[in-house]
Amino acid sequence: MDAELLLRALDRTLIVEDVLRVETQAEMRAALDGSWNMVISDYALPTFGAAAALATLQASGKDIPFIIVSGTVNEQIAVELMRAGAHDFLSKNNLARLAPAIERELRDAAARAERAEMQERLLISDRMVSLGTLAAGVAHEINNPLAAAMANLHFAMEDLEKLSRESQASGDAVAMARRVDALRGTLGDALESTNRVRDIVRDLRVFSRADEETTGSVDVHRVLESSVRMAWNEVRHRAHLVKNYDVVPRVHGNEGRLGQVFLNLIVNAAQAIPEGQREGNAIRLTTRCEGKSHVVVEVTDTGSGMTPTTIARIFDPFFTTKPIGQGTGLGLAICHRIVTAFGGKLTVDSAPGRGSTFAVTLRVDDGPPVARSAPPLAATRRGRVLVVDDEVSLGGIIRRMLAPDHEVVAVTSALDALQLLDHGERFDVILCDLMMPDVTGMDLHAALVARDPKLAECLVFMTGGAFSPRAREFLDESQRPVIEKPFDADALRAAIQQTLR
Ligand SMILES: Nc1ncnc2c1ncn2[C@@H]1O[C@H](COP(=O)(O)OP(=O)(O)OP(=O)(O)O)[C@@H](O)[C@H]1O
Ligand SMILES: [Mg+2]
Repeated sequence: MDAELLLRALDRTLIVEDVLRVETQAEMRAALDGSWNMVISDYALPTFGAAAALATLQASGKDIPFIIVSGTVNEQIAVELMRAGAHDFLSKNNLARLAPAIERELRDAAARAERAEMQERLLISDRMVSLGTLAAGVAHEINNPLAAAMANLHFAMEDLEKLSRESQASGDAVAMARRVDALRGTLGDALESTNRVRDIVRDLRVFSRADEETTGSVDVHRVLESSVRMAWNEVRHRAHLVKNYDVVPRVHGNEGRLGQVFLNLIVNAAQAIPEGQREGNAIRLTTRCEGKSHVVVEVTDTGSGMTPTTIARIFDPFFTTKPIGQGTGLGLAICHRIVTAFGGKLTVDSAPGRGSTFAVTLRVDDGPPVARSAPPLAATRRGRVLVVDDEVSLGGIIRRMLAPDHEVVAVTSALDALQLLDHGERFDVILCDLMMPDVTGMDLHAALVARDPKLAECLVFMTGGAFSPRAREFLDESQRPVIEKPFDADALRAAIQQTLR
């Protein structure tokens, strides 16, 4: 069949950008490396036919419409080839059908491609969900032992300091003092490492989706700091980090989601700067108010910048200029979706060679303030504290943290706590873990309310992160104070005093 004839038939109705004619399977295989929208095949070629051509296309894994044009139309063969996956089969005598068939198949193929892309996008967001769940779980698992390690290191430090003072006072133990000092250095380092682990866990929690559905008031600086820590590995070899933080009110949004936005903007900024030229480059984080109703967070870099053509496409899903494996091109698309969902906007200002500025404008939160931390305290009052936590070591730690100001009794289950109360024991504060196996802190709260609502007002909850939706709802409703593990002695004492008053 002559290809010219075909093209002439198309010329009147379709714009054909590029045509390549192949005659053998090898030629076709090579051609399929290029990007083609359509394959039109003669039924009987000298060396290979439509069936083999169709199989070749299918082997390439490409989803391109395949239309067969034949001199003689044998109905049975046509049916077979259509069944094998050909999209249409037409006769050379009826080429008027060709253009509409091509148009229809191109439309269908575009729809199929869009569906496939959507599927892939869903898969990716699925992966993000499981990452988030994983992060929340890990945070929870690490926090309990970490809290114990931190507290014990702290006590050891205090003891050492006392010992060091005493040995100095005794005068004859210079060597001993030196040994104690060395040990104090070691313990200090250990304490610092555990502090770092605590920060990582905090960050993981920010990025987990455990609190995804809730929006509330968010401290942008706190979230920015978490994002910086997460991105630090990308940033530190490439640029100085400069912070221009203004005093700004809290904004409407969700910590985890905004953390994702800032993280992606900071990583993009870093990746726009080549490695190893840290001296001349900076990433600047700026926060400022815009009127009374908005807060602007800007991420500015001294990197490559972008051409207007690139800028026009950066918010498109899957648009990336980065090598395969480095970028999916989803970052800014997701950022845009998140920011607009919170009623904010994401804008960009950039030119090649001048660097880029991404500005996130967020609404000031107009809801009631949600700060749960205790106000500074006046006098302290001695109280009797019941600790309920399935982590056995926590009771002893809290006793040491509160000594000598308060008396501490510890049990490892809510049932034990109820039993003590049934035996007539009285407590001023009941410090209870929120998520315990069997009987949870929420169950204990309910049991106390049933006995005597005044008792329930003694409750202070402790959490290791990872709220279930039910737990969050419960905390919002019950309005009981919450302290997050790992906590330090000051935070604990403040929460106890607040409840005592
Ligand atoms: N700060 C920036 N400087 C220069 N170009 C940028 C900057 N931020 C984004 N871009 C351009 O926008 C494109 C899209 O960014 P986006 O964050 O959506 O995807 P990505 O960074 O390529 O991949 P991913 O974020 O999914 O890992 C980038 O590939 C890059 O070309
Ligand atoms: Mg990105």
